[in-house]
Amino acid sequence: MNRRIIFFDTTLRDGEQSPGVSLNLKQKVEIGKMLVELGIDVIEAGFPVTSPGDFQAVQTIAKEVKGATIAALARANQKDIEVAWEALRDAKNPRIHTFIATSDIHLQYKLKKSREEVLRLAREAVSFAKSLCPDVEFSAEDATRSDWEFLAQVVLEVVKAGATTVNIPDTVGYTVPQEYYALINFLINKLKEHGYEEDLKSGRLRISVHCHNDLGLAVANSLSAILAGATQVEGTINGIGERAGNAALEEIIMTLKTRKDFFAKTLGYEPELRVNTRMIVPLSQLVSKYTGMPVQPNKAIVGANAFAHESGIHQHGVLCERSTYEIINPEDVGWSGSAIVLGKHSGRHAISFKLKSLGWELDSESLNKVFERYRAEVKDILRVVDDSYLEGIVLDVFLEDTYRYRLSSSQVISVYSGSLKPFAQVEVEDTREGKKVSIGLGVGPIDAAYKAVASALGFSFEPSSDKEWLRLVDFHIDALNGGTSAEGVCGVILEDRDGVRTAGLGKDGDIVIASLKALIKALNRLIAYKEKGKELKESLMKVQKA
Ligand code: KIV
Ligand code: ZN
Repeated sequence: MNRRIIFFDTTLRDGEQSPGVSLNLKQKVEIGKMLVELGIDVIEAGFPVTSPGDFQAVQTIAKEVKGATIAALARANQKDIEVAWEALRDAKNPRIHTFIATSDIHLQYKLKKSREEVLRLAREAVSFAKSLCPDVEFSAEDATRSDWEFLAQVVLEVVKAGATTVNIPDTVGYTVPQEYYALINFLINKLKEHGYEEDLKSGRLRISVHCHNDLGLAVANSLSAILAGATQVEGTINGIGERAGNAALEEIIMTLKTRKDFFAKTLGYEPELRVNTRMIVPLSQLVSKYTGMPVQPNKAIVGANAFAHESGIHQHGVLCERSTYEIINPEDVGWSGSAIVLGKHSGRHAISFKLKSLGWELDSESLNKVFERYRAEVKDILRVVDDSYLEGIVLDVFLEDTYRYRLSSSQVISVYSGSLKPFAQVEVEDTREGKKVSIGLGVGPIDAAYKAVASALGFSFEPSSDKEWLRLVDFHIDALNGGTSAEGVCGVILEDRDGVRTAGLGKDGDIVIASLKALIKALNRLIAYKEKGKELKESLMKVQKA
């Protein structure tokens, strides 16, 4: 008995039908190769008749992407099928995927054809495709809104004509798990009644499922269909696709893997998966980059927050034993690094863990000091705390009395209209070289003030050969409370040429002053870290080891 679940990826065809998405040839080939590394069995490379670009993409992928079956889509007519075959013929394992709608809604309003005509077209399309290619998939578009008896008639007819995979798409994302289960079960029983039991068992004939996510049920419906006996599942990476998208393949793969106990018990055998799940996150990120479609942070498996524990109780649990709040090891899907995200709910355990992972070994007294400052200065202000803010607090605890700069005075002028520019004058006390005064002009008052500080202290925010160059990695301002008298808080992250990052927070009723305070804080920490940070880390480590 064949226990394999075949994964059919349509990121390059249905996924590319997402509004605003257009992948170039090089990107498609790169994604195709990575899909093979993930272990995808069938890659639907495109719909060749629709454009010369799609034709070329299928042809190139057919030639260059080895290790998976390459499929091309074609409507149920001779021309589409010929063009699809022309594009596919160099593939080692080609598949023609032909489709026609079977629901009365589509027959009446789109195709304007009778059921008899559709039955004939489906049969003829599959026979023709089969005369060109041994591997033929047929899809009954809008299957879930079709009359079940008519759908079964079409399925039996195309199998007789040579289809080796029959796909039952939920084209408009309309079905629900129990109903889809019943439909797949009904069709499989029909096939068994007509003598196809052995073909289904051996995998010579497969029922496939293809779900859209209009009601947010695409993954649940796909899994339900697998429980009913479907042995091919179609989807896309990150769930991209028409409208609300397709079923997210990474979610299906990880559910089958994580809950193999349940699937084995329900199916009576453990479905065989040949996937390298560590490729999931790199592939998701590549698809997101090339399609320009960001992955929502709370998206299962591949979202930035999918393994980020923020609440103190959860962080404590995970640090004691991962399985308390984690059902998947993030590394198994390709995530690296710490899953702990510092935020307003983080407790001492999380701070201590984070510091250790950044190389800071603190005794309990110093840890207390850091935690108290974290609570007072950062906790309720930043939603997510970048590591550089936490390291900044450590530097304050040990090195604050060596900090070099202090903002002693500033005057900043805004300008509305005309040719004048916003202007700033700043006075900074330098403990080594005395008072420094300079001016700056900018796009706005903060830009002018930052340029004045840069000029006073001899660095630049633009790449420059004669001055120390600093990059402003992050700059943001928030209001701490409501109204026009709200206190402003500014967060700044700086990076120098060597990649050293430091952060500073500044608070004030005047947002320009808050921004200047944040910059001076970040600069002080940067200098202190560069001059003494390494030794400090090493000495703390030695004390802890002793
Ligand atoms: O959603 C759908 O019905 C399709 C078919 C062409 C398989 O994408
Ligand atoms: Zn689709």
